[in-house]
Amino acid sequence: MQETHASAPPPPSPFSPLRIGPLTLRNRFIKAGANEGMTPVGLPTQALVKHHRDLAAGGIGMTTVAYAAVAADGLTFSHQMHMHAGIVPHLRVLTDAVHREGAAACLQITHAGSFTMMRHGGSRTPPSASSGLNAFGMLYGVYFQRAMSEVDMVRVAAEFAEAARLARESGFDAVEIHMGHGYLLNQFLSPLSNRRHDRFGGSVEQRSRFPLHVLHQVKDAVGAQLAVTCKLSVSDGAAGGNSAEDSAVTARLLEDAGADLLTLSGGRNVESPWVLFGSPMPTAQMKAAAPHLFA
Ligand SMILES: Cc1cc2nc3c(=O)[nH]c(=O)nc-3n(C[C@H](O)[C@H](O)[C@H](O)COP(=O)(O)O)c2cc1C
Repeated sequence: MQETHASAPPPPSPFSPLRIGPLTLRNRFIKAGANEGMTPVGLPTQALVKHHRDLAAGGIGMTTVAYAAVAADGLTFSHQMHMHAGIVPHLRVLTDAVHREGAAACLQITHAGSFTMMRHGGSRTPPSASSGLNAFGMLYGVYFQRAMSEVDMVRVAAEFAEAARLARESGFDAVEIHMGHGYLLNQFLSPLSNRRHDRFGGSVEQRSRFPLHVLHQVKDAVGAQLAVTCKLSVSDGAAGGNSAEDSAVTARLLEDAGADLLTLSGGRNVESPWVLFGSPMPTAQMKAAAPHLFA
């Protein structure tokens, strides 16, 4: 008997080129952003350059440099990078090295919101979707967080756009807007941290509104030249948090707003870090590698 249903086409080979927005990758292997810990004074080191150059030399299509805060007050830890004009020539060394090996380079741009151990400008109340106790900051004397006003949102969205422009100047081929894992944009997306009663809280569509505004600003700034991707936690992995059904709504909104690719992850850095890391924390190895963090 003749088959009446057309069978689904086979998935493309992971070794075939991939078009994302204005960018074409040589294959579909993309190194996910994972905080390298190689920016001790906030600038890329030779070790960071080597790390990404080696990945490129290994043949991947694109490598993602993790966690560049869009402004100094978007840092979680003092040893991370934040975007400013002075960092451009340092990042250029990294992107040139990656390009020489035939791969593309993506910069993850993000803002910690209340997930910070720092008192930025002496402030003890970092911005978030909602005000209240700051579960992470509490360990470091940053006891409370404040709800962002719409003026704050316009300013922070402009910082994302400026960070993307600096990424372009630094030679990156793509930027990844971090909307997962409990950082600022995820603090808006997740009902675990968004208790707002205005048009930025409530339904999943309303909770997606500020992250979507950020995407629009970044697309307007660099979308013609760079691929603009978003990292999203599919599930918060914690009771009362987003489910895959909620995140599917956000994913469609991001796609409609022009996201060129979604990097799907899961979990929140306070409520469900084991989901974020994809495995139990290797605490023994972490203590051996960075004993000062456990003193
Ligand atoms: C040590 C470590 C640091 C990480 N840092 C980041 C980071 O800076 N940004 C990020 O988006 N994800 C970070 N991740 C998460 C990984 O990119 C990845 O999402 C995670 O290992 C789980 O894989 P999955 O997302 O496919 O489930 C980190 C993971 C590890 C193990």
